[in-house]
Amino acid sequence: MFVIDNIPDLRAARRELNGTVGLVATMGALHDGHLELIRQARHRCDAVIATIFVNPTQFGQHEDLSNYPRPLARDLALLESAQTDLVFTPTPAIMYPAGYQTYITVEEVTRPLEGASRPGHFRGVATVVSKLFHLTQPHQAFFGQKDAQQVVVIQQMVRDLDFPLEVVVVPTLREPDGLAMSSRNGYLTAQERAAAPVIYRALQLASQRYDAGERNPNTLREIVRNTVQANPLARIDYISAADPRTLQELDSPTEQPILLSLTVQIGKPRLLDNLLLPASLNTVDGLSQTLNG
Ligand code: PAF
Repeated sequence: MFVIDNIPDLRAARRELNGTVGLVATMGALHDGHLELIRQARHRCDAVIATIFVNPTQFGQHEDLSNYPRPLARDLALLESAQTDLVFTPTPAIMYPAGYQTYITVEEVTRPLEGASRPGHFRGVATVVSKLFHLTQPHQAFFGQKDAQQVVVIQQMVRDLDFPLEVVVVPTLREPDGLAMSSRNGYLTAQERAAAPVIYRALQLASQRYDAGERNPNTLREIVRNTVQANPLARIDYISAADPRTLQELDSPTEQPILLSLTVQIGKPRLLDNLLLPASLNTVDGLSQTLNG
């Protein structure tokens, strides 16, 4: 595995890779969810590039960029054991040298949900991801379902800016009790960790009601709300039942797929989760096609 921290060496190493290339962009602090992205890339592409870069432009003023975990040696060992071919580990000064002034703004799909709570976040994500696409020139880029809005934003950017690549969406990996894997889970105390599975339980209850014929998005949102707010440690930021292509809230019954998502603060971290309804769509193919604008 080659570990490269500068752009000229990255371009040279990229030229040496034969066949199809899969990209897994990360901010490090890897967990099994990231390794599943690598496994999917390994399975579908001839070569796999991973990037580790804690991207300052996607952090808000009150978000703790300096305390974001950076266990680089551990991350590299995990990537090596997952058979990654090349890892790009730039510094902020390489990605945003002095005088940098170009940013990508994706418009409508960045406004609701996470975009409403984290102004500027998706501008930072779109900018860094477009730079990583240019630098690594992947045929396929792999992203996790847990950040569903991020996927929709990136798909929109790929279409609008004609990136010649396919976005592959990998289903959320979960702990045995259903909690979506996330580097934020490490901030939970034992008591908060015990409360956190309520998030997925709420999504599952709504999914069961959907399977039983419920199609009213207001009712589905209510099922999630009532389940989560029964837990005294959970503070709901938003609960959404939206069109998975536009992320606009739905307000009347529909047979079209529904993206049911929520963000809940438990203790310090904001925890995100989502399910596509019907639940049969939560596969690589179902997600990649449905969250595709
Ligand atoms: O999902 C993430 O870890 C980040 O938003 C990404 C895609 C690596 C961009 O910094």
